[in-house]
Amino acid sequence: MAQRILVVDDSMMNLKTIELALVSGGFEVILAPDGREGLRLAESIRPDLIILDVEMPGMDGYEVCRRIRRSSALATLPVMMLTANTSLHEKIQGLEAGADDYMGKPFETEELLARARALLRRSVISIQPQEQSSGKVIAFFSLRGGVGVSTLAVNLSAGLAQLWNGGVALVDMVFTGGHSGLMLNLPLRYSWGDLATKNSEEIDADTLDHMMLSHACGLRVLPSAPRPEDNEPINGELVSRVLKVLRSCYNYVVLDMPHSFSEPSLAALDAADEIILLIAPEIGSVVAATCAMDVFAQLGYGPEKIKLLINVTFERGGLPRKDIEKTLGRNLDTAIPFAHDLFVSALNRGAPPVLEMPTKPLGILLEDWAFHLSTEADRHRPAATGSPAHKRVHQRQLQRQGAKA
Ligand SMILES: Nc1ncnc2c1ncn2[C@@H]1O[C@H](COP(=O)(O)OP(=O)(O)O)[C@@H](O)[C@H]1O
Ligand SMILES: [Mg+2]
Repeated sequence: MAQRILVVDDSMMNLKTIELALVSGGFEVILAPDGREGLRLAESIRPDLIILDVEMPGMDGYEVCRRIRRSSALATLPVMMLTANTSLHEKIQGLEAGADDYMGKPFETEELLARARALLRRSVISIQPQEQSSGKVIAFFSLRGGVGVSTLAVNLSAGLAQLWNGGVALVDMVFTGGHSGLMLNLPLRYSWGDLATKNSEEIDADTLDHMMLSHACGLRVLPSAPRPEDNEPINGELVSRVLKVLRSCYNYVVLDMPHSFSEPSLAALDAADEIILLIAPEIGSVVAATCAMDVFAQLGYGPEKIKLLINVTFERGGLPRKDIEKTLGRNLDTAIPFAHDLFVSALNRGAPPVLEMPTKPLGILLEDWAFHLSTEADRHRPAATGSPAHKRVHQRQLQRQGAKA
């Protein structure tokens, strides 16, 4: 059961560095960009510990701490001050405001974790039970639109559901009007728009189970509201909550992402175990991928979290693969060939090729790729007792091994 730490700092970089350190210690981290938001979140989520920056515009850390101590609901919450001001005077001021501990920046991860754990041991606050997180979250992303993010998210999620007999959720994060439901020919009932008005704590496994669409292949879909204004109230906190609940119920959660780094988008990327960064073989897409990779590095995402996929969305004149690899300084993981007629007719009929033509070259490629992105535990399941799709993948593996020998 992860304990929750709320971190309040006006610098995004500081927030991310502290978050990284705390997550490495197994904590769940919630971030607030200023004192007021910090107080609001402290009241609504009741963290187990709060880490406060001192110098912030508006309300400084001392004032936030004094208000926590005056609030009957929050008075016993352990508070650590984290700041560049390490003079004795500052320290005393912090402790007088009611802080339990005081630490200077820059900090060593080990020391931060040790102090956080010590404060939590001393605290008498009860810990909220939390869902176990187990499923794998895979985000399909590109800053450039039209490169096949939705097409491949739909095909991969359907492919996974077909391979492992369900247990897969597809989440449409395109709040400007996503089409995941349409691409699977599913009539819209509920959507993110119905979640937008709820308090994030009200959202549990039952709420989502009731709302999500069901496809015959075993895939469940959380569509975005067709009218962008209905999605407007969705914020990062709500997205984090929904993804946390979903990963406790499904083995795979596949995200069809927007082409932006909006707050909800960042929350989803943070929650992802793997990001599939899509690139079409043209200059705009390569530039967009370079930019996205820079941002991922700043956010502290390791290279193992990012997979690069080239999707050939046009017929002729594409940049050579090796030039793209040279520009990005990394090898591409997979390539999807140009298959306009198949993808467009599939789109119009709401029948993804991975389901409709599993024995044609495109279907085979997509099915093998879904297997490749599966968890190690699934990949080691016995095929003999598995789904027809698993048997097909296994058969092809044997054929390949036979051809090599
Ligand atoms: N490999 C491909 N070959 C040909 N057309 C493709 C391919 N992948 C996607 N498309 C087409 O490109 C268009 C944009 O795809 P879409 O998935 O909506 O992109 P995005 O979500 O990145 O905006 C769609 O018409 C889709 O059918
Ligand atoms: Mg899309």
